[in-house]
Amino acid sequence: MYFDKEFDNIVKEYLMHPKVQEMSKYKHHGITRLEHSIRVSYHTYKVCKTLKLNYKEATIAALLHDFFFNEVETENGYNRLIYHPSYAVENVKQYFKINKFQEDIIRCHMFPVTIIPPKYLEGWIVDIVDNTASIYERCYSSINSLVATTNVIALALISIFK
Ligand SMILES: [Fe+2]
Ligand SMILES: [Fe+2]
Repeated sequence: MYFDKEFDNIVKEYLMHPKVQEMSKYKHHGITRLEHSIRVSYHTYKVCKTLKLNYKEATIAALLHDFFFNEVETENGYNRLIYHPSYAVENVKQYFKINKFQEDIIRCHMFPVTIIPPKYLEGWIVDIVDNTASIYERCYSSINSLVATTNVIALALISIFK
């Protein structure tokens, strides 16, 4: 998807895991949760590497920052925002080994919605990249819906007047 050999090597092992692949079944901002996670992971990789930070561990944490599934189904919208990072941390620990640095990035990626801020600069970067990606994805999906609706209306008008 992003044609960067080093990025591919960092995320490869995780992306091949069936539980990570399962994220492709869930819709997230108009795309799949897996697509969103890869986007956040890639841009985290680029920014953290440029700033000479701990980019490898941050890239993996970013890939797994939304590693939640059905756990939030029964929650209302606000609770989903607040609780999904904790579900993600618990799920990640079931399948992978992460360190405190990565746990903090995942747990605090929704700051300021969740009260505790990230401890590390890399955590702030994931938080900002995630927000930017979410806004972009929501706009992109709205524009796509608008284009699709316009196309349907145009086709209907053409079929009426031709
Ligand atoms: Fe999230
Ligand atoms: Fe996210």
